[in-house]
This record gives sequence, structure tokens and C-alpha cells, in this order.
Amino acid sequence: MDGFLALRRSIERLLSIRCANYKEDYIRRRVLSRMRLTGRKDFDDYHTLLLSSPDEQEQLRTTLTINVTKFSRDTEVFDIIHKELLPELMRRKDRIRIWSAGCATGEEPYSLALIAHDLCRLRPGVRVTILATDLDAEALDKAKAGVYHEKSLENLTPGQVRRHFTLRQDGKYAVKPHLREYIRFQAHDLMSGKPASSFIDIILCRNVTIYFTEKQKNDLAVMFHAALLHDGYYIMGKTEFLSRDVESLFVPYNSLQKIYRKPSGPLPGGADRERARRHPA
Ligand SMILES: C[S@@+](CC[C@H](N)C(=O)[O-])C[C@H]1O[C@@H](n2cnc3c(N)ncnc32)[C@H](O)[C@@H]1O
Repeated sequence: MDGFLALRRSIERLLSIRCANYKEDYIRRRVLSRMRLTGRKDFDDYHTLLLSSPDEQEQLRTTLTINVTKFSRDTEVFDIIHKELLPELMRRKDRIRIWSAGCATGEEPYSLALIAHDLCRLRPGVRVTILATDLDAEALDKAKAGVYHEKSLENLTPGQVRRHFTLRQDGKYAVKPHLREYIRFQAHDLMSGKPASSFIDIILCRNVTIYFTEKQKNDLAVMFHAALLHDGYYIMGKTEFLSRDVESLFVPYNSLQKIYRKPSGPLPGGADRERARRHPA
């Protein structure tokens, strides 16, 4: 045994991360990266460090639950939400619910709040609420604080930055209270099998599933399908895709940007798939 199993057990116990939820290769690669950075020669050696150093426990947790993100990451997707999805939803209803699943440090839900705010000003009767969830408590704390470096705002226009952020003395930008009012942050594990909420109009789950197994990704798509309202949208990351096992649950809305729609009723004989093939976005 190379000491990895014992290390895995300590990761479970010390970091409260269920290793069984991740591909083993993923955990190994992440641990190896920490071993290189801390100059440890093997798993046993790194294990000794991990047991004695709360700092290293935090470093490993962050490494395992990478939460790299930025405002309006992939601007095209946020443009489509702004110009097509939200206006379409606002034409047919006045209560709109969005779920940002795997929201990391909050840039994604605040980007949505920013769009919702601009659109709602023109439609006073419409209300948008955003549920933002992640399993990483530290990332959620940062999201709630809503304070960002200039670099993570680079996809926003100067006007958006001016309207929705306050420049602090330390050079960082704090989200203004009117944006916070749209968002409820909540801890939630996407592998728990239970959705954080239901009756949702738009689910964004982007750049979260890179280390999920095929089965876990399929289970997630089924869970999102159940949580979405008919004619609601499911938005994945640009490098993520629906497997053949679950693609018939959704109709492509914009294949390039990985935006799918839950159809309003089942079509017989797999016709959903056929319709999607004949009318690609
Ligand atoms: C790279 S960030 C993506 C942030 C944002 N969605 C984006 O696209 O910019 C991935 C996030 O997924 C979260 N995550 C990973 N596994 C998760 C799980 N099982 N349940 C909830 N969140 C998870 C991580 O904690 C991390 O904050």
C-alpha cells in the first residue's frame, strides 16, 4: 500500500470531504500537487504534515474544491440570459427563480443579479430571486462578503462597475446592497441527491462537474430536470455536455453556449431528441 488509503481516510475525517464522491485519480492529482508544493516525498510524509498542520488542511481543501471564477465568465452566455432568456420569462410570468449551483465566491450570482436589476427597473411588477449554493463554506463566506479585486470585474463595463460597486480605500470593489437583495446564499452539496430548491426557471451549473463521474453527472442532470419548471433553462459550462443517457430530458436552446430547455411535455417515441436534431440552436 502506498499510504494513499490512510491519507484518504484522514481527508474524509479532517476536511469533511467525502472522497467517494470524487474520482480517485482527481484526488491523487490534487494531493500530488500539494506534495510538490510542500516538498513532501510520498503520501506518508504528506499525511504527517496534514495531520499536524491546520494551515495545510485548509490549503488542501481549497485545492480539492477549486473555485476559480469571475464576473460574467463567458460573456456570451450572460448576454443571452440578458437579451433572450430573462426577457422571454418576464413576458410570461412575474416571479422568476434562478439557481446558481456551485456559485463559488459569488461572481456568477452577482452577475445574474446585475442583469436582473437592469431588467426589473423597466418592469416594476416583476420579481427575480437567485438562490446561490456551494459546498465550500469558505467560498460562500467570500460570496456573502461580496468584495472583489478589480481583475475579477474585467468582463463588466465601466458603467456596470460604477452602478453596482463601491470602490473601497484598499482598492477592492464591494457589491452595493441593491444587488445583494436578489440573492440568498446557502450551503448545499450537489451530490446529496436532493435539489436545494424546486420550481426553478433557470439553473446555472457551470464548471462544477469536471471531477464528477459519468453517473454523478447523469444523476445531476436528472435532479436539475426535476427541479426545473417546464420551459425552464439549464445552463452548463462550455466544456461540459449532456451524455446520451440524459440528453432526451432537454431540448437544446443554444448548443454552442450549452443552454438547454426543459420541454413543456413529453413527446412520444423519443421525439424530443428528434426535434432537437432537426432544429439545432
Ligand atoms: C470552478 S467553480 C465554478 C464557479 C462558477 N459556477 C463559474 O462557472 O464560474 C466550482 C465550484 O463548484 C463547487 N463544487 C464542487 N463540487 C460541489 C458539490 N458536490 N456541491 C456543490 N458545489 C460543488 C466548488 O466548491 C467550487 O466553488
